[in-house]
Amino acid sequence: MTNWDELKRHQEAVKDRAILSLFDKERAAAFSARLGSEGGEMLLDFSKTNIDAEALALLLSLAEAAGVAARRDAMFTGAKINETEGRAVLHTALRNLEGSVSVDGQDVMPALRETHVRMQAFARDVRAGRFTGQGGAITDVVNIGIGGSDLGPVMATLALAPYHDGPAVHYVSNVDGAHIHDVLKPLNPETTLVIIASKTFTTIETMTNAETARRWMAAKVADPAAQFAAVSTAAEKTAAFGIAPARVFGFEDWVGGRYSMWGPIGLAVMLAVGPEEFDAFLAGGAAMDAHFRAAPLAQNLPVLLALVGIWHAQVCGHATRAVLPYDQRLSRLPAYLQQLEMESNGKRVAMDGTDLAFDSGPVVWGEPGTNGQHAFYQLIHQGTRVVPCEFLLAATGHEPDLAHQHRLLIANCLAQSEALLRGRSLDQALQMMAAKGLTGAEQERQARHRVFPGNRPSTTLAYPKLTPFVLGQIIALYEHRVFVEGVILGINSYDQWGVELGKELALALQPVLEGQADGAGKDGSTRMLVEYMRGR
Ligand code: F6P
Repeated sequence: MTNWDELKRHQEAVKDRAILSLFDKERAAAFSARLGSEGGEMLLDFSKTNIDAEALALLLSLAEAAGVAARRDAMFTGAKINETEGRAVLHTALRNLEGSVSVDGQDVMPALRETHVRMQAFARDVRAGRFTGQGGAITDVVNIGIGGSDLGPVMATLALAPYHDGPAVHYVSNVDGAHIHDVLKPLNPETTLVIIASKTFTTIETMTNAETARRWMAAKVADPAAQFAAVSTAAEKTAAFGIAPARVFGFEDWVGGRYSMWGPIGLAVMLAVGPEEFDAFLAGGAAMDAHFRAAPLAQNLPVLLALVGIWHAQVCGHATRAVLPYDQRLSRLPAYLQQLEMESNGKRVAMDGTDLAFDSGPVVWGEPGTNGQHAFYQLIHQGTRVVPCEFLLAATGHEPDLAHQHRLLIANCLAQSEALLRGRSLDQALQMMAAKGLTGAEQERQARHRVFPGNRPSTTLAYPKLTPFVLGQIIALYEHRVFVEGVILGINSYDQWGVELGKELALALQPVLEGQADGAGKDGSTRMLVEYMRGR
């Protein structure tokens, strides 16, 4: 029997058991892990899941059999573990600038350090008003990028709002002209800096928006190129766009787009919060790296979070995973994790090209609490499908004068995981209805609507406060979780061939929409939709 078969057999045997019944006085401590560091202590609680000692042991042996530790070490030391693209995977080097690592025999660190220092100098100049636009000090920064060149910086800028003391930062991603139109409308081109953030510098959305921004700038600014910066791996393409090398911040192709916010793609964040706070974010990521590399698998936060993910998605067969930050400033974390997790582990073929023997990574979705409670939690509590929930919660907020609101937030978060676990039985609901004076069939009918099945799994990641350091820890934790899940599934988490077909077809459809080619060969639905669009 393989570990997978054993896990399936065990899960079948225990699937109807009440998670609540597992709670003896050891369970909370035994099914949780802590990471202490300069930012305080982080706590991952996965005791409110149906994982017991046997399941955990089987999951850990799955990780061992998959060679997670060896693969992890290969990643950190620059081996080309992105085998379908022949690339190393070294986003971790971006946050371990004192480290040393080589790719193809070449030490990659001097170039990383040099770019980091240039970014810092540029950020300091912009923030201090030494780098100016035609109209004086830069008041606004517009970052144009999409996917990994947008989601991370957007998420982090919101998350680090209490530290934001630089120019206002805006993000444009969608090729929908409405996006750039609405972002640029209130801005003064004479005091705006535009960053074109694109690893490849070919992405159609980004390049189209970059042209639009350049036209907008050129209408008011004599030398628009002087107010553009670029972040990319493609130096010749940034030069062709007219951006001076002094304002081009390069990186290498071994930094995947969705893993890139630690380096030059994070420039907009650095401009917002300053180089020191950005370094604290990197230090948080580096602290999680150190833990991931050193801690035994059974106490390793990314490994444990991954094993919980595998248990829910591949063993129990739950198709989705809700990410529920009780932290308004992490409101874009679910969107960020959608790309990180779904672009990385949404694969149907193993590294060796054979069909995957299990489900791919789950659908990741979510919204911050408490807002979600008033929207979709109804389904989470009483729907027919089980949605494993991942709560995130800070012990303290940044607003001491609003501490009572933070306590309310905490109470709500803890109440939700408790309600999911405990539920409400028919007996309890019948008593409630009886207390309202209902009897007989009407009492039963009304009571049945008020039953909560409970026994619904959740994890809680608790952290001291959402500082730059802690944000770095959280993001690195999720990155490594994706990695561990990918290794156990035997897939390549670092390519994304699944995004290509749509791009190719969109290019081919453009001349059809413009009437320069006919839609022969297209299906009836696509032809009808093209006709509808062209007719208007
Ligand atoms: O289409 C997917 C993707 O390639 C992502 O992986 C990437 O983050 C995004 O597009 C943007 O790519 P680039 O940074 O090259 O513009």
